Amino acid sequence: MIEITGNTRLYGIVADPVAQVKTPQTMRKVFDRRGTDGVLVPLHVPPEGLSDLVQALRSLRNFGGMVVTVPHKTGMVELCDVVTPEARAVGAVNIVRREPDGTLAGDILDGKGFVEGLRQSGFNPEGLAVFLCGAGGAARAIAFALAQAGIRKLSIHNRTQAAAQQILQGIQKLFPQVETALGSQDPMHADLVINATSLGMKTGDAFAFDVSRLQPNQIVAEIIMTPALTPLLEFAQAKGCRIQYGLPMLECQIEMMADFMGVAK
Ligand SMILES: NC(=O)c1ccc[n+]([C@@H]2O[C@H](COP(=O)([O-])OP(=O)(O)OC[C@H]3O[C@@H](n4cnc5c(N)ncnc54)[C@H](OP(=O)(O)O)[C@@H]3O)[C@@H](O)[C@H]2O)c1
Repeated sequence: MIEITGNTRLYGIVADPVAQVKTPQTMRKVFDRRGTDGVLVPLHVPPEGLSDLVQALRSLRNFGGMVVTVPHKTGMVELCDVVTPEARAVGAVNIVRREPDGTLAGDILDGKGFVEGLRQSGFNPEGLAVFLCGAGGAARAIAFALAQAGIRKLSIHNRTQAAAQQILQGIQKLFPQVETALGSQDPMHADLVINATSLGMKTGDAFAFDVSRLQPNQIVAEIIMTPALTPLLEFAQAKGCRIQYGLPMLECQIEMMADFMGVAK
C-alpha cells in the first residue's frame, strides 16, 4: 500500500477514453523499483479540453510529466514548449516532462521502444534492409527510429500509398543515407519485415502483405500486443523465420518514459 503525502510527486496519463490504460499499474512498479515517492494517475480529457489541461499543468509545481496516448499524440506537439527533433519529424508526442520553470518538453518514444525491443531480443537493426507494412502513427515513429538506428534500406507498403510516400519523403530529408522505396506486397528482399498495421488484432483479419514470400532467414516483427502470437507470427515461425512479439515495444518504453520525466534511477 503506498502512502500519498504532501511530498508525493504527481504524474499522469492523458487519454480519451482512459479506463483501458495499464500505465498507472506498470509505472507503479517502476516507481517502487526506483524508490520514487510518486503516483501516476489517469487524466480523462477530450480533445477540446487538452489545451486547458496543458495550461493548468504548467503551474502545477509538483507535477513531473505525463504519458500521452490516443487521441492526443498529434495535438500535444504544438502544445509543448519544446519537442525533440524526432517528435517534430513524426508529428506526435507520447511523453511530456514539466521543467521546474513550468515549460513542457515532449518526445515520441514509440519508435525508440520498438528498436530497443529488437536489440533486447538480439536483433541489431544497423545495416538491415527493412520492409515496413503500414503508414499510420506507429509505423511513422518506427520508420524514423529505424533510420536513426542505422538501417540500410527502407521499403514501405501501405493500403493508402500516399501515406507511405509521405513518410519516405521525411526519411529522405533527414536520413539521405537510407535507401528508400515504395514497397509492393512482396517482403522477400528484406532482412527485417514489420507489420505496423492494425491487421492481426481481430480474428479473421487478412494478412497485410504477401506472407507466402517470407524467407526463413528473415526476422518478422509485430507491434500488435494482443494476441501475442498473431497469425502472421505463427505463419512466420512455421516458415523458420525469427520472430519479434509486439509487447516489448511498449515494455521498453516504460523505463524510457520514467527517465524522460526525470524519475531518478
Ligand atoms: N506495441 C506497441 O507499443 C504499440 C504502440 C502503438 C501502436 N501499436 C499498435 O499498432 C497498430 C497500429 O497503430 P497506429 O497507431 O499506427 O494506428 P493508425 O495510425 O490508425 O494506422 C493504422 C495502419 O493500419 C492500416 N490498416 C488499418 N486497417 C487496414 C485494412 N483493413 N487493410 C489494410 N491496412 C489497414 C492503415 O492503413 P491506411 O493508411 O491505408 O488506413 C495504417 O497503415 C495498432 O494495432 C496498435 O494497437 C502498438
